[in-house]
Order: sequence, then C-alpha cells, then structure tokens
Amino acid sequence: MTKNDITITEIAAFCKKTGLIFPNSEIYGGFSGFFDYGPRGVEIKNAIKSLWWNTFVKKRQDVVGIDGTTITHPKVWKASGHVDSFTDPLLDCKKCKSRIRGDHIIEDDLKIPTDGMSLDEINKLVKKHKITCPKCSGELTKARNYNLMFKTNVGPIDNDESTAYLRPETAQVIFADFKAVTDSSRLKLPFGIAQIGKAYRNEIAPRDFLFRSREFEQMEIEYFVHPKDVKKCPLLTKKILSKKILILTEKNQLENMKAKEISIKDALKDKIFPNPWLAYFIYQTHKWFLDLGIKEKNLRLRQHRKDELAHYAKGCVDIDYKFPFGWKEIHGNADRGTYDLDQHSKYAGKPQQIFDEETKEKITPHVASEPSQGLDRAFLALVIDAYEQPEKDHTILKINPRLAPIQVAVFPLVKKDGIKEKAEEIYDMLNEQFITIIDIAGSVGKRYYRMDEIGTPICITVDYDTKEDNTVTIRDRDTQKQVRCKIDILKETIKKLFSKEITIKDVGTIVK
Ligand code: GAP
Repeated sequence: MTKNDITITEIAAFCKKTGLIFPNSEIYGGFSGFFDYGPRGVEIKNAIKSLWWNTFVKKRQDVVGIDGTTITHPKVWKASGHVDSFTDPLLDCKKCKSRIRGDHIIEDDLKIPTDGMSLDEINKLVKKHKITCPKCSGELTKARNYNLMFKTNVGPIDNDESTAYLRPETAQVIFADFKAVTDSSRLKLPFGIAQIGKAYRNEIAPRDFLFRSREFEQMEIEYFVHPKDVKKCPLLTKKILSKKILILTEKNQLENMKAKEISIKDALKDKIFPNPWLAYFIYQTHKWFLDLGIKEKNLRLRQHRKDELAHYAKGCVDIDYKFPFGWKEIHGNADRGTYDLDQHSKYAGKPQQIFDEETKEKITPHVASEPSQGLDRAFLALVIDAYEQPEKDHTILKINPRLAPIQVAVFPLVKKDGIKEKAEEIYDMLNEQFITIIDIAGSVGKRYYRMDEIGTPICITVDYDTKEDNTVTIRDRDTQKQVRCKIDILKETIKKLFSKEITIKDVGTIVK
C-alpha cells in the first residue's frame, strides 16, 4: 500500500499508534481541531522548523527573525482588516441546528472547486441543487459571514473593552514590529523579517486531520522591497528561470483544464506570478520541499483567481500537495503591497516607513513576497509522502534521515557474552553525531520492523563476528539491504549514506 491508497483516517491512526500525533484531550473524548505531537512527532516537527529557519533565516544575509506574542493589541486586528473581513461562509441547519461551512458542503455535494466562493454563489447553488443538512437532511439557512478569530479577555475585567484576539496569522506581528526591527537592525532594502509560531483559527469545520485544525503553526516571511524595484529581482538566476514546475494557472481553472509544466521564465511572462520576487521565493520553497524528499509529482503551484484574492493581496500563488483527499494548499505566497504598513500607519497614527539613502526620502516598502508555510501541513505532507506499506504488517516511513526521530538504532544480537557491552560502546560513539537508540527487546526481525515504522534509516546489528573482526551489520531502511562494515569507518559511512554521497551497495557486499 502506498500513499495513493491510504485514507486520511488511516494516516491519523498510524500517527497515533507510532507516537507521532495524538488527538488532544482524548481522555475526555477529544477536542475537535486540536492535536498534540507525541514523542516521535515532536522530533520531526522540530527538525522541520530548524531546517526551515536555517534555510530561510540563518543562512541568508537579507532575512532576520523575531518571536512575537500570540495575543497582541486588538487594534492590530482592526487595522489589518481581520476584525471585519477574516470570515468563512456559515449556514445553519433549521432542524438539527448543526453549523455548516458553506463552501465545504458545496465542494462535498457537487464535487467542484470552491476556493473564494461568494455568499451569493453559495446561496444560489444550495437553492438550485436543493442541498440539505448532511446530518439530518434538514433545510439550511442562507449563508452568512462568520469571523474565525478566537476572542479572549485581557486583565481581570471581562467586557468589550478588554476583548483581545489570538492571532490568526503570525504575519501581523511582523508588521506591528516593523519599525522596532528596522530601527534596531540597520537593515537595507530588500530584506525579510521572519517568524515561526502558533496561529489560531476558530474553523467552522476542522477536518482532514492536521490539514485544517484550530491551533497550528506558521513559518512566515514578509519580504520588503523598494517600491521602484518590485519588477526586478536580481536573485532570479538563469537556473531558476529555466526550472519547469507543474502549475495550475487562473486560465486553467476558469477553463476546467489540468495543470501543466511551465518554466518560471514563461510563467513570469504570462503574469502567473504578480512579481519576480514572489517567483523567486516560491521556487526556493518548492526546492526546500524537494530537498526534504517530497516527490515532485505530488507538488504543483496554483495561481489564485482574481475573485478569490484575500483583501490584502495583489496576487497570490500557492504550493499544493496531492493529499489522499485531493490537491490542497500547503503553502501560500502573496504580494501584499503596502497594504499592511499603510493600515498600521493610519491606525497607529505613526508612519511605518523607512528612510531611503538614495533618494533621501521616506518610503513605505512593498511586501513583494510573503512566503507563508503551515508547519503542520508540511509535516502531514512529508509523512504521507514517506509512507509505504509493502505488506500487511510492515509499514516503512521513508522519511529524510535529517527529519527522522531516530537516525540510528543499535541492536545487540543477544544480551550475553559481551555483545551487549560492545553494542553500548558503538551506541556511545554514534550518539555523539546521530540521534541513536539501543534496542534489546524481541527478535532482530521485529526490531527492524519497529524501526521501519518510525522511519529509522539505519539499524546496526552487533553479533559474535563483531568481537572477532570488529565489523557490524548495517541495514538500510529504504532497500532493506544489509552489509558488513568496519566499526572504525561506521560514523563516516552513515554520514555519507545520509547525504546520499554513497548507497548501501557502495559500503560492501550485500549479505543475506
Ligand atoms: N499570512 C498569510 C496567511 O496566513 P493563509 O493562506 O491563510 O495565509 C498560510 O495561511 C498557511 O497556513 C497555509 O498555506 C497553511 O499551510 C496554513 N494554515 C492555514 N490555515 C490552517 C489551518 N486551519 N490548519 C492548519 N494549517 C493552516
């Protein structure tokens, strides 16, 4: 069984069984839209975060990071437009009082894409197709806008004046801190400000496991460019321009056509990207996913149609992943222009601008690209893409070794005759460099299967021959092949296997 045959419910069960993800508060029956990462899952999640931060912040001269609060001054959300416009269409069942997300019920019943569908269109379709409540077939009310922000109260008084919101995106904290960052960090345009952190949305209908939850994490960058430079991006090299990517354009969607491969250069010419900076960051994120091992055939770009653009966006392109429940967004990237800084200038009464040395003028930088990555959706896509079940009781998680919660497992064949002690020595040596465990329980075959299931790329077996010739058996998760290897070159060999410099066949003769 591969990811093409598995359902999202089976993936959720697999994640629970292997300690990747648990439903939150399960002892009380669970809490819809909330999930906890277990002992294995938290390691994968932290590894994804750190690889993203390294690639997009630490290793770049032009991006700095912040770590802001999840509750901010409520005016931030008034200024950003979220208080007035951050809504989804909601319908009520007149009979059983269930609350239903308008675009979802249309998508489920009519099997048509519904991104950005207006209240009017939903009402017309519900009427035309006589759509009723999926639970009790009761009549539905007209669709109305429902605000997705979680409210709370700050301080000991519980009234409208103390109302605050849990942030629905990390981006606004970057905008609200824009002056504090630029005044303290001597940044020169173009530059980015990045943040990783929790976001909260009171989704009408959380579904598809981690895909649509009520508490999740985002990894976002706001990339600021001089307004006169929006149309030229020196970071777009020939190599990037010639890269062909599967893209579903606005035209394809309007004409009901399939996505096709287009080079970044041609996509820019056809105005699929609103500007070249956005094309550059989409390319980098797409590459980041490929480097982490996602199969290219399971990724595509989707251009937002004009009628579905968010209130702040001049243009937007998503990265979609082919989930068991269809192609869905895992990353969004919008050209936000000067919308947010202008709004905060207006609401705070303080210009959110910087001084341009060249023209000796104050300018409002243009957010040419906002790479917005959902961490949990990245996690879900990586796990699904790595999932394989060659036989009923044998699951292999072929996850990138850099993300594996355990990178090396050391198995003493037996506990006696000094074998366990030798295995402990090897464990101590490998644990300096790799996340290593020692596993003594059960047959070696069972131990291999346990490790395959949680994605451990390398298992080392220590046996009687080890004492004679200082060699161990290395077993490779992905090919299930085994070879003997000298202990003194073990560390170097594993490092090369992880970086794909060599394959298991290069280590030695395959043993049965
Ligand atoms: N700052 C822009 C922004 O927040 P978005 O498209 O609403 O844009 C960006 O969200 C990303 O956040 C999405 O591509 C997705 O990966 C993630 N995301 C959004 N809502 C989510 C939810 N309910 N559950 C899990 N991830 C979500």
